[in-house]
Amino acid sequence: MAPLDVTAIKRDFPIFNRTVRDGRRLVYLDSGATSQKPVQVLDAEREFYEKHNAAVHRGAHQLAEEATDAFEHARLNIAGFIGAKADDLVFTKNATEAINLVAYSFLNATLKFSRGKDLPDGAERFVLAEGDEIVVSEMEHHANLIPWQELADKTGAVLRWIGLTDDGRLDESTYANVITNRTKIVSVTHQSNLLGSVTDLAPIVKAARAVGALVLLDACQSVPHMPVDVSELGVDFIAWSGHKMLGPLGIGCLWGKSEILAAMPPFITGGSMIETVHMESSTFALPPKRFEAGVPMAAQAVGLSAAVDYLNRIGMAAVAAHEHDLTQAVLRELAEIDGVRIIGPKDSTNRGSAISFVLDGLHPHDVGQILDENGVAVRVGHHCAWPVCRRYSVPATTRATFYIYNDMEDVQALADGIRSAKKFFGV
Ligand code: ALA
Repeated sequence: MAPLDVTAIKRDFPIFNRTVRDGRRLVYLDSGATSQKPVQVLDAEREFYEKHNAAVHRGAHQLAEEATDAFEHARLNIAGFIGAKADDLVFTKNATEAINLVAYSFLNATLKFSRGKDLPDGAERFVLAEGDEIVVSEMEHHANLIPWQELADKTGAVLRWIGLTDDGRLDESTYANVITNRTKIVSVTHQSNLLGSVTDLAPIVKAARAVGALVLLDACQSVPHMPVDVSELGVDFIAWSGHKMLGPLGIGCLWGKSEILAAMPPFITGGSMIETVHMESSTFALPPKRFEAGVPMAAQAVGLSAAVDYLNRIGMAAVAAHEHDLTQAVLRELAEIDGVRIIGPKDSTNRGSAISFVLDGLHPHDVGQILDENGVAVRVGHHCAWPVCRRYSVPATTRATFYIYNDMEDVQALADGIRSAKKFFGV
């Protein structure tokens, strides 16, 4: 496979024309938090506002028609990127909202059922009884933990979790104990935002299927970085955000199997998501509209569609191969620096390019500060995955994440920055 032409790619990203911290080259190693945006995405959004701006699915005028077409074309294109049908793709504000949508469907189904209210056909599997179980893992981002904690708290369901091995992977030996015939949903990450480990899905899906549980995949760190095809994953939902894959802020996606989405009561209610409305009660539209109340984020959808085009032109297999090379190089470089401890797998097998580490004798925030002074942007802290830090007995980590616009020079800048931090603090 031809290597990526990172120099040409970088030319598409206006942010790399600027410098940081007194004229230093920007080494952006924080794409795990949010990616930078190519001019193609910025242009697509600007063009929508300049030429077609209107509220979609409302209005009979030409602009409303064009805006609606642009929005629905974006849905088709983005769904195609993960091998899905347009009608099975719901736009949300971000991945957090997408996961909350599913959690609230459980809550709303449970509440309505307990009051004898009408529910969509098939909604029984979203009704929780006291003692039913929700399964997550110890490596989840807070976005895939707290909605489930809250759901358990409100319904009397029990939250259970899959533990982690010392080398930063899901502990498969615990699946049989944790996933039981009380399990209603298993919600796990495809790739840990802190550890970088990629989940081997087949055993989890098999265990969940054996007990009739649904499976949700937090794909925030996988869809932007590797080929993902929902027809091959065997899961029921995937949630991810647009801004980590070159797209705009303010848009996320929930894909769900048609028959499962159709069985879910809505989360946010209001305009657009209805079938009929009377003063006493209303009925709701079919998915995806049932889950898209209010004027949707059309410009962001158009921008995300342009991001999909950009990634498709490169090819997701080439993106993954590029990141794999960078990951290998980072792990090799960091292994040569005394006092660096990688939090997560130390080899690049089944591993993405989120590389967290701690440095003996230094707080991760101090490491981040020296890196920043060198123009290297990383994230420090618990990365919204606090239980992972507890599991590995660290208060926080310094995390570097890589994408299509990073190259071996950036890897070297990270290693040089860590050495500078050691020198500066005398450790
Ligand atoms: N979820 C994002 C991260 O891991 C913000 O940094």
